[in-house]
Amino acid sequence: MKTSIFTMLILAFVSTSASSNPGKHNYEKLCLSCHLTSKTKDTKAIAPPIFAVKTHVKTAYPDREDFIQTIVDWVEDPDADASLMPGAIRKFGLMPKLPYAPSEVRKVAEFIYDTDFNSPNWYKKHYKAKHPTVQ
Ligand code: HEC
Repeated sequence: MKTSIFTMLILAFVSTSASSNPGKHNYEKLCLSCHLTSKTKDTKAIAPPIFAVKTHVKTAYPDREDFIQTIVDWVEDPDADASLMPGAIRKFGLMPKLPYAPSEVRKVAEFIYDTDFNSPNWYKKHYKAKHPTVQ
């Protein structure tokens, strides 16, 4: 009896930790409707894909904590003057202010920082052409 409860607990723990990353879950719930994980050049996008956002923010704020804080501050109050992607604002319009809890956005920012979204090669070329001084 003891053993089976123990086994159940272990199984419950293993399955939740494998399937639910709270940052990924929040990203899918709060951001994915606009920021896709990937896109081909001709997809009709309404916002830059998340790897493009990550590249811009991480280039300006390589430190993990600075990166996370920048994203949390941005989502709390998107401000064109503080934008790292003025080209995206011209193309898509300023991101709307959304009533998300900063603690939930923080989990998204951690997930974005820690995830390799495998930016496609065409984007790397596009980014280099637009930002020749950046590696
Ligand atoms: C309703 C659509 C929409 C949703 C939902 C949305 N965004 Fe955005 N976001 C945009 C658009 C459009 C832009 C590009 C224009 C801009 O930068 O304001 C953008 C830009 C950004 C930028 C770049 C800011 C800059 O420097 O210009 C960050 C960072 C960002 N979004 C994070 C997030 C995160 C994190 C979430 C989820 C918590 C999210 N967004 C949800 C539409 C959205």
